[in-house]
Amino acid sequence: MTALPHYLLSDNAAVAADGRLSIAGCDVLDLTEEFGTPLFIYDEDHLRARCREAVAAFGDGVAYATKAFLCTAMARLAHEEGMQLDVATGGELHVAMAAGVPADRLVLHGNNKSELELKMALEAGVGRIVVDSFDEFDRVEALVSDGLTAPSVLVRVNPGVEAHTHEYLQTGAADSKFGFSLSGGVAEVAIERAAGSSAMQLRGLHAHVGSQVFVVDSFVKAVGALAPLAHRVDARELSIGGGLGVAYIEGEAAPSITEWADAVKTACADAGIESRILAEPGRAIVAQAALTAYRVGTIKPIDGVRTYVSVDGGMSDNPRPVLYGSGYEAFLPRATTAERDQSVRIVGKHCESGDVIVQEARVPADLAVGDILATPVTGAYGHTMGSNYNMVLRPPVVFARDGDARLVVRRETFADLVDRDI
Ligand code: LLP
Repeated sequence: MTALPHYLLSDNAAVAADGRLSIAGCDVLDLTEEFGTPLFIYDEDHLRARCREAVAAFGDGVAYATKAFLCTAMARLAHEEGMQLDVATGGELHVAMAAGVPADRLVLHGNNKSELELKMALEAGVGRIVVDSFDEFDRVEALVSDGLTAPSVLVRVNPGVEAHTHEYLQTGAADSKFGFSLSGGVAEVAIERAAGSSAMQLRGLHAHVGSQVFVVDSFVKAVGALAPLAHRVDARELSIGGGLGVAYIEGEAAPSITEWADAVKTACADAGIESRILAEPGRAIVAQAALTAYRVGTIKPIDGVRTYVSVDGGMSDNPRPVLYGSGYEAFLPRATTAERDQSVRIVGKHCESGDVIVQEARVPADLAVGDILATPVTGAYGHTMGSNYNMVLRPPVVFARDGDARLVVRRETFADLVDRDI
């Protein structure tokens, strides 16, 4: 069998008798007629269901990591479904607040928060700041002595756990720019500083081991590493960060948010940790909710080598294959369940040989120029990590729900490209 595995599509994906794919009652080919290509199509109820699952599994305080996918519609959706929002820069903070999310529902991250970002956060009254360096302690203390209100903080601890994932996505190993190391007692010094400072209220600890992690054991190890410290400082809150992986390609399987939460909570209970357990999933909320629809522009067979299929987007809407060697599947929404018995390389339109979307894609043999070709599981770190390379216009985003599709981010225009030039 070489057909696309259905489990890579979103919850409300359905295939009609003629093979055409619809998302939440919206025909994908019709959407590409209406909104053009490339196009990000999100299944809105899939997003809502994952937010609700996270709140049910961890309770109030679980935050959506906005870096995975952010626009005002997404910020509002996560807030409506009861999640807090993790923002890692002043820009993410601004978008979340522009969406109307109350500041006390925001958690500010970052290994190098500027004075301006901290000032924005303190003035707005964000719910938590996750302190990441001694320099940041200095900045917060200076701002509070200038009259701003003392924030509630978590101290980011680097647990020294190597998660099973791509090297660039590991953040909790000893050699990392994030957090205060457990080893050498640095984390303990940071916690004493936070606890003794009148410029902040210490609420607890935070750790994030990495991203696209498939084995809950990596999180369990982090809990084990943090437990002695959590006991010593009597942490009221313990956030395990984000990082739960998702399946991108045939054969992959990942734990659900509920299974992840159960494993983390069991590990905490076993370690005698009585803190409130928090988390901040990003990818697991949004990745499988979306697909990207492209139009095929050229098909170039090179005798005895391979066939190149070029689409109208590329590394500017999905840089993950180039950055991490990430794999994706491809299929034709006009023949969703068709056997894919041809092997091709799917590339973008950028002036760069590395601009590959799928190295070895299986596609139906009748793939033709003009076809709409889709890659599933593109809801996380595609739109947010997109660029304007070669001045390619950033794609729009639609949310499909109950047979209606609403445009939540419009396509960039040529005018946008010169808008900031002076
Ligand atoms: N919390 C913190 C402190 C983080 O650094 C991250 C991700 C998350 C939560 C959310 O992690 P998630 O649940 O989405 O795995 N661009 C890469 C992923 C980088 C993740 C960075 N931090 C990719 O495309 O795979």
